[in-house]
Amino acid sequence: MGKLDGRVVLITGAARGQGEQEARLFASEGAKIVVADVLDDQGEAVAKDLGNGNAVYVHLDVSKEEDWVAAVGSAKAAFGKIDGLVNNAGILRFNELVSTPLDEFQQIIQVNQVGAFLGIKTVAPEIGAAGGGSIVNTSSYTGVTGMAYVGAYTATKHAIVGLTRVAALELAAQKIRVNAVCPGAIDTAMSNPSQLDPEANTEEAAQALDELYRKLVPLGRVGKPEEVARLALFLSSEEDSAYITGQPFVVDGGWLAGVSVL
Ligand SMILES: NC(=O)c1ccc[n+]([C@@H]2O[C@H](COP(=O)([O-])OP(=O)(O)OC[C@H]3O[C@@H](n4cnc5c(N)ncnc54)[C@H](O)[C@@H]3O)[C@@H](O)[C@H]2O)c1
Repeated sequence: MGKLDGRVVLITGAARGQGEQEARLFASEGAKIVVADVLDDQGEAVAKDLGNGNAVYVHLDVSKEEDWVAAVGSAKAAFGKIDGLVNNAGILRFNELVSTPLDEFQQIIQVNQVGAFLGIKTVAPEIGAAGGGSIVNTSSYTGVTGMAYVGAYTATKHAIVGLTRVAALELAAQKIRVNAVCPGAIDTAMSNPSQLDPEANTEEAAQALDELYRKLVPLGRVGKPEEVARLALFLSSEEDSAYITGQPFVVDGGWLAGVSVL
């Protein structure tokens, strides 16, 4: 028996990183997966790997309402319903606030914040029609504290915690639980862009990051995308988290636990 037997879950940004691991873990727990992303080749490969009949890939730019409507149509055509959503897609840009161009600020809001809003708006009625289910939004440790040089990103991740709380209040009557994961530093292309650079010395980059996180994070290491996927699974499972809604959950190796003296 899987924790998600009979469930159909749409996961955005599922072509790589945390979304990919969520897709793989949720499928292994019995869910049918709608793998959604803008990286078509990678997304299709993930869906294929999960097996015919277990997953479909849809091209979904989360910032576009028409893409959401089309994705819901494809999901229902493939599996008949949707009763789970993981709003995972996101982008990060580094800049100090006073140097951030307006269009960069707006682009980050459009993907991270508007994307999560459109996901809730489009998919929640489907989950309600299916009799209830779960939404997991992806915030960040920067959703609960500040971080210099990622102001636009931090603003969106705080907004996602607010959206999560309001959605939980408004959707509870339809038996839809809404929670947020707040990952710390996780070893994906977002925190370690050398993963995407064929010229990069990935060994060297990994060592530098190991060194950094050994000092910064109480548990002494960067997190794995699989570890965030485990939390998303817990929050999606009726068995595990039936009485939990409207909450942000930090998964950060203790980074936010307190101030280090060393
Ligand atoms: N890696 C970290 O350290 C970290 C920490 C906290 C929060 N997060 C959050 O976790 C989530 C997943 O990030 P990740 O670490 O796996 O990084 P990643 O860059 O590997 O994955 C992000 C995915 O989102 C997709 N995406 C980007 N823009 C999109 C759009 N407009 N529409 C649809 N898909 C889009 C990308 O193609 C990619 O597959 C993001 O929301 C990110 O902000 C990451």
